[in-house]
Amino acid sequence: MAAIRVASTSLTLLASTSSSSCYYHSSPSVFTKFRFGHILDISFSLAPQSSRRAKRMAHSIARATLGLTQPNKIDPPKIDLVEWKGDILAVGVTEKDMAKDENSKFKNSILQKLDSQLGGLLSEATSEEDFTGKAGQSTVLRLPGLGSKRVGLYGLGALASATVAYRSFGEAVALAAKSSQANNVAITLASSEGIPTESKPSTASAIAAGAILGTFDDNRFKSESKKPALKSVDIIGLGSGPEIEKKLKYAEDVCSGIILGKELVNAPANVLTPGVLAEEATRIASEHSDVFTAKILDVELCKELKMGAYLGVAAASANPPYFIHLCYKPPSGSVKTKLALVGKGLTFDSGGYNIKTGAGCMIELMKFDMGGSAAVLGAAKALGQIKPAGVEVHFIVAACENMISGTGMRPGDILTASNGKTIEVNNTDAEGRLTLADALVYACNQGVEKIVDLATLTGACIVALGPSIAGRMIYNSFISYKLAKEVFGASEISGEKLWRMPMEESYWETMKSGVADMVNTGGRQGGAITAALFLKQFVDEKVQWMHIDIAGPVWNDKKKNATGFGISTLVEWVLNNSS
Ligand code: BES
Ligand code: MN
Ligand code: ZN
Repeated sequence: MAAIRVASTSLTLLASTSSSSCYYHSSPSVFTKFRFGHILDISFSLAPQSSRRAKRMAHSIARATLGLTQPNKIDPPKIDLVEWKGDILAVGVTEKDMAKDENSKFKNSILQKLDSQLGGLLSEATSEEDFTGKAGQSTVLRLPGLGSKRVGLYGLGALASATVAYRSFGEAVALAAKSSQANNVAITLASSEGIPTESKPSTASAIAAGAILGTFDDNRFKSESKKPALKSVDIIGLGSGPEIEKKLKYAEDVCSGIILGKELVNAPANVLTPGVLAEEATRIASEHSDVFTAKILDVELCKELKMGAYLGVAAASANPPYFIHLCYKPPSGSVKTKLALVGKGLTFDSGGYNIKTGAGCMIELMKFDMGGSAAVLGAAKALGQIKPAGVEVHFIVAACENMISGTGMRPGDILTASNGKTIEVNNTDAEGRLTLADALVYACNQGVEKIVDLATLTGACIVALGPSIAGRMIYNSFISYKLAKEVFGASEISGEKLWRMPMEESYWETMKSGVADMVNTGGRQGGAITAALFLKQFVDEKVQWMHIDIAGPVWNDKKKNATGFGISTLVEWVLNNSS
């Protein structure tokens, strides 16, 4: 019997260990107070499905056999859906599964069986509610006649094959569990036998990821909040065994990274300062000190490295900047590939003297301007648990605040970046690229083969692609075509949408300065592209490099919450580079 326990993000403040070399020390932060307050503690169990009477229910077995290290000597008992005892029995159905015969009876055998146990009420209710199995449709009914208190049907669309459909299914079940305060749910698919054996583990893990993320609520800043009631999830009919257990563990690790990423972005700028972000990074390293080293550079050290562009942005703030560098090395074996993940880390972007004013400037949301760094650190947390072999990964964030004061940079100031190039700051609100300039130079100096940077870089990218799609650019497709293919493959698996944007060299014209090597802002047109062209000035030509503008997808306006965008794609990509 496979069962895993899904632990929450780290709950306690760990003292930094001696194994992480640290230039930076601080007292416990305010953020500690606001750390994830409750334990997300769900156990998952896997069981085959049976038409015979099950002797025990999966979730009670799960608790008895927790732990992945024990081999499964006995076959897991088969679970009969009709007999399953618990709060919600959730069945994922495609539009095809919903087909009925001329007597309004389901053709699908599982739905047929449930319906006959319920005296035809399921068929009746779905007709009345016009439930056809479309993606996103759901209906939860409180009906007598089953072992379960409630039965829910969840639409998967025409053909359920995409990870996204299964993840949304898991999430919808978690939301239903929340609204009915359910402790335990069983999740199955009406036609799980139609899924190829090799796809079952990824199907189960997508459902599990949805259930974990759907259960998570960021209540750290609310004075009152309910603890999640959901304790156990039985995934029935998608198989069991070591392969699927491994996939579930992977989903759990990625989700813990996503949850951390969301918490970092949701935390306001008065709580999450550059220093606190550095502290959180150090915590990740010390929690996995077998694979991580942490280096935090303060202003003085950044001055020594001549990071004039980054320090120019940081100059106005009362909260000092910290340059964060975590290095992951596999616990054993040799390193075949070296990668760097660079994230924009503006804990707040006021715009500086070119202050953000006017409708739609979103100044009140500019705490999310460290979304790139949250993605990078969320990925670090996940990878610290997964521990991939053969790959070295550098996690780099030039964290600071873009504020206004007498010590701040003025429009028109000229800054010198760490590669010696000079920049005339014609707009202090184009600050992200200034911090990334020095971060990218630093990344190239680590001797990496490939760099991916993520940044909430331009409003122009949101205008181009809307709120849920990130724009991605690569420099020189001859060098970076492989990287482009890898990241695209990873995003297909994660379901995070990236769209290819051009690096149009002729647009560089607008970035020329009369007195310095370049200005930091071109015209209004093609703003996401000129921003990427600016970054290009700071990347070594021989390095494969991709820039991802996540200004749109970092935030969910409807939910008024962070999305955790980028983390699952980054983790997937790093694993594809491992050996
Ligand atoms: N952080 C913003 C980009 C942004 C804007 C992200 C809105 C999400 C929502 C960035 O620092 C910025 O201000 N960019 C300017 C660049 C301009 C001055 C060339 C922008 O997009 O307006
Ligand atoms: Mn800005
Ligand atoms: Zn910004």
